[in-house]
Amino acid sequence: MSNPQFWAVVPAAGVGERMQADKPKQYLLLNGQTVIEHTLQRLAAHPDIAGIIVAISPNDDWWPSISVSLDCPLHVVEGGAHRADSVLNGLMILSEYLDDDPWVLVHDAARPCLRVTDIDKMLTSLSEHDVGGILGVLVNDTVKRTNLNNEIMESVDRRNLWRAATPQMFRLRQLKQGLETAFSQQMTVTDEASAIELMGLSPMMVEGHSDNIKITVPEDLALASWFLQQQGEA
Ligand code: CTP
Ligand code: MG
Repeated sequence: MSNPQFWAVVPAAGVGERMQADKPKQYLLLNGQTVIEHTLQRLAAHPDIAGIIVAISPNDDWWPSISVSLDCPLHVVEGGAHRADSVLNGLMILSEYLDDDPWVLVHDAARPCLRVTDIDKMLTSLSEHDVGGILGVLVNDTVKRTNLNNEIMESVDRRNLWRAATPQMFRLRQLKQGLETAFSQQMTVTDEASAIELMGLSPMMVEGHSDNIKITVPEDLALASWFLQQQGEA
């Protein structure tokens, strides 16, 4: 591997339980291509992405039938039991092969509508930052906190509330250390930023488009299909 500046790690080893389909959701068809093909193409379409590491489950019978032609190298690693394990496997292979400390963009395979313009916004806003950051969307609903009986206890000020999305962009070695530390302390981290936050660091939030949805439940597929059509070649 060469010594690039930006790499992508794509966790794609989930089973898609909430999707209730006959195969993991990343292999469902979306406007003529599988979800994961769209996702990989979006990342590879950015000229500064030097390569992609994709984490695939050892029990995955579908990946071999994917034939995606990309403008950058693609390497496969084995996924793990949880998303963070899959990500860490990708980071380990990168740190083994690269001597330097590139930025890594971790992006869910299940987010095929990522706009290349949002990748670009992220690289531009964060590449000089000390820590890195993530794409997110401001919460625009009124937010309530309830007790265990679903009684409303308070309205939460939404002005500084965001929904975290991906890509999440951090330095390879710091992110690897963050995830390893979280594992060793048996802390559950559901995204990369959480691991960085546990180290006492403050990642940036970069405002992305709300069409960068994570396909999770069956109705998300129709929504993603519509978003892709609306975007054209976005
Ligand atoms: N993922 C992974 N390894 C795991 C679990 C999840 O690489 N052990 C990936 C998924 O393939 C997905 C991303 O992490 O691209 C986000 O996870 P999620 O949306 O939760 O996907 P699934 O775990 O597949 O879905 P579910 O939770 O409904 O089973
Ligand atoms: Mg999951």
